[in-house]
Amino acid sequence: MINLPKVTFKKENIVLEVPAGTKLVDIAEKSGANINFSCKEGVCLTCLVNIVKGMENLNQKTENEKATLEAFGAAENQRLACQVVINGDVVIETLD
Ligand code: FES
Repeated sequence: MINLPKVTFKKENIVLEVPAGTKLVDIAEKSGANINFSCKEGVCLTCLVNIVKGMENLNQKTENEKATLEAFGAAENQRLACQVVINGDVVIETLD
């Protein structure tokens, strides 16, 4: 039996199991999580989220994402949801 990565949206109390390699952007809207997207290129900050647990189970930041987060002065535990790929369990906290 294969253990699929578990994605938890903390505030919404939504838990999903997805295949490793799933892009967060592809499941966030369908799941009912409260994440808004705009550029989907990692340059606008609209989709900023807190990673409560499982940062190590996500892809490395893309160049765009790194530059945008640095320019904003984002915290260590923040990622741009449109750039995130899920490789293992993660707990995500959406921002208001
Ligand atoms: S939607 Fe613009 S940075 Fe993610």
